[in-house]
Amino acid sequence: DPADLDARVRAAKATLGDRVVILGHFYQREEVVTHADFVGDSFQLANASLTRPDAEAIVFCGVHFMAETADLLSGPEQAVILPNLAAGCSMADMADIDQVEECWEQLTELYGTEPDENGRVPVIPVTYMNSSAALKGFCGRNGGIVCTSSNAATVLEWAFERGQRVLFFPDQHLGRNTAKAMGVPLEAMPMWNPNKPLGGNDERALGDAQVILWHGFCSVHRRFTVGQIEQARAEHPGVRVIVHPECPMPVVDAADESGSTDYIRKAIDAATEPTTFAIGTEVNLVQRLAAQYPQHTIFCLDPVVCPCSTMYRIHPGYLAWVLESLVAGEVPNRITVPADVADPARLALERMLAAKP
Ligand code: 13P
Ligand code: SF4
Repeated sequence: DPADLDARVRAAKATLGDRVVILGHFYQREEVVTHADFVGDSFQLANASLTRPDAEAIVFCGVHFMAETADLLSGPEQAVILPNLAAGCSMADMADIDQVEECWEQLTELYGTEPDENGRVPVIPVTYMNSSAALKGFCGRNGGIVCTSSNAATVLEWAFERGQRVLFFPDQHLGRNTAKAMGVPLEAMPMWNPNKPLGGNDERALGDAQVILWHGFCSVHRRFTVGQIEQARAEHPGVRVIVHPECPMPVVDAADESGSTDYIRKAIDAATEPTTFAIGTEVNLVQRLAAQYPQHTIFCLDPVVCPCSTMYRIHPGYLAWVLESLVAGEVPNRITVPADVADPARLALERMLAAKP
């Protein structure tokens, strides 16, 4: 019973008081978000995990890579808890550390290791936050950095100051959309095929590459289409179309704007006149924004409901269970990144936090 679960979460949270902090990503369902102390995009939540060093436990209502990031940034004594361990991210799973290491070896064979006359190394690896801690560690070990959808351009600039080209993974769309907006021509963005050796990848294209893209994508955002945008424009003259940069390039190009989940929230918040917004991102966020801003008309571009199925795995029942376990002195579902991965992964994250626009 939802009311019963809500009461159980409230009671356990009240008993724990300041001992616990609950973080919630914008894509979480309403029954979970209502209990969160901080709600935000993945960059904001990474920062939020630094703000309560006094809390014994950080309960992360989001997906696995976000909880790993919170573990990397929080204090060593703090336990980061993911209420349901099955809450992963299919995009993060698309870049596997062995395949990335193999790609790196082949790129090193192709480009060598010598810096150019400006001291820029041949390749800087950049991983999207939506990746395993192992991949963040790979970036930390190899002079690279992490980005999120809210700072991808800043991070790419950081990388181009230090490298002649970038290997960007796992999300091809965020990489392509961001680099294109910075003026990188599409021909200079070949996609690496991890199932082929160097000779099977287009060596001529790699020779001219500025950004080498990985083949990953988000199964939620790739569902948005240019046809949906055309339909929204036909049915709602004057509509403002805002999409997440994980959408395919033609969709981002056809939209009026693109940005992270918090960018979308801020754009709606800043609109002074009643406006119609068609939004290309996860439906839980779109529905919450529609309820919070009744002066506007806000709808999801995809008429067939489009949730992130793994974010949805954080059911309030799991939240009640982990909080009640903490009350009972147990620490369930703790996410701990092993030290050998944690040190370089933290370095890559700290480079991101220090990179200024
Ligand atoms: P944000 O960084 O915009 O919160 O995006 C996270 C995410 O998983 C989008 O699919
Ligand atoms: Fe991963 Fe896409 Fe879900 Fe974000 S929306 S957590 S990228 S599957």
